[in-house]
Amino acid sequence: MKILSVVGARPQFIKLAPVHLAAQKFGIEHIVVHTGQHYDPSMSQLIFSDLGLPNPKYNLEIGSGSHAFQTGNMMIGLEPIISAENPDWVLVYGDTNSTIAAALSAVKIHTKVAHLEAGLRSSNRAMPEEHNRIATDHLSDILFAPTEQAMIQLEKENLGEKSYLVGDVMVDACLTVKENAIHVSSKDKVSNYVICTIHRAENTNSKNRITEILQKLANINFEVRLVAHPRLMAKCDEFGIDLHNFGVHVLPPLSYSQMVKAVLGAVGVITDSGGLQKEAFLLETPCVTVRTETEWPETVSSGWNILDPEISSDVEAFFVHKRSAPDIAVYGDGLAAEKMISVLLENAI
Ligand code: UD1
Repeated sequence: MKILSVVGARPQFIKLAPVHLAAQKFGIEHIVVHTGQHYDPSMSQLIFSDLGLPNPKYNLEIGSGSHAFQTGNMMIGLEPIISAENPDWVLVYGDTNSTIAAALSAVKIHTKVAHLEAGLRSSNRAMPEEHNRIATDHLSDILFAPTEQAMIQLEKENLGEKSYLVGDVMVDACLTVKENAIHVSSKDKVSNYVICTIHRAENTNSKNRITEILQKLANINFEVRLVAHPRLMAKCDEFGIDLHNFGVHVLPPLSYSQMVKAVLGAVGVITDSGGLQKEAFLLETPCVTVRTETEWPETVSSGWNILDPEISSDVEAFFVHKRSAPDIAVYGDGLAAEKMISVLLENAI
């Protein structure tokens, strides 16, 4: 069996790592195509080398641009590669423009598609990721749901028959890195800093919104370490905002191991990232999510995450509040990637 994975954005490189290991374990040929959506060394090469991933066989080097520019050019680049490689499965990850471009390219030339992280919904139709994930689920031949909630959603959309509950591949990645790299116990926090990331379009597309968020961060009574995504830096440059004027400690993008370590040692996380909310939960660090909705409701119902788009709650009290350990089994057992490869093997013919 031959699988062709298409990745392009940082969180997809992290999800790729356990999949690549599982493919190796099962002795399966695994081709990796990088669309080039994320291209800065700190967003791409740093993650590949940190996780011991080989260089992709193909890199389309599409880069940044409008949704249509990215998606269209990715499709033009992907079609001949998928045709030439003729894999049994094209595997697509999450909800980025690289995901929808790969799914659409593959189905058009009758190559089977499997979608990892299927069934997640924010119900926010303004998010580009929401269009990408709904369309990808409906295009794919096999859907891998990370949670029971995602399975229920897929059944509601009449996609239950082709769906498999395998758990979340980010758990595989996160727990491996935690075990290998970390000696800081989450119960033994010595640091009083907060890890913060802000990159989503709705939080970075206007000068007012960015300034508002930075002012809220400046008022927090812990050291705020802002790990700055290139989109935030680019928007601050465009709007003439100097990040250093807000009393926050600005850091460049981190490798995955560095991020896991930083979250483990933090008193709390403030983020608008989908992935980081869940990593905070897995690492027993409370999280304030700067959004009105989440694709990971289990993190909220457990009391470890709150949705607070205006950062108006008592963040300090929320972070230090004593709570019982989260039930991380809602996101699987750390073997999601192996389960996925088994399903693909069973359905290869
Ligand atoms: C994309 C995904 C988002 C995911 C995020 C993870 C879509 C629609 N969005 O958002 O779901 O959470 O990746 O990081 O696919 N830039 C650089 N260097 C890079 C990459 C980006 O400078 O290596 C800057 C550019 O100014 C670019 C902007 O960031 O225009 C946005 O990049 P883009 O890939 O369009 O979306 P992300 O915000 O990264």
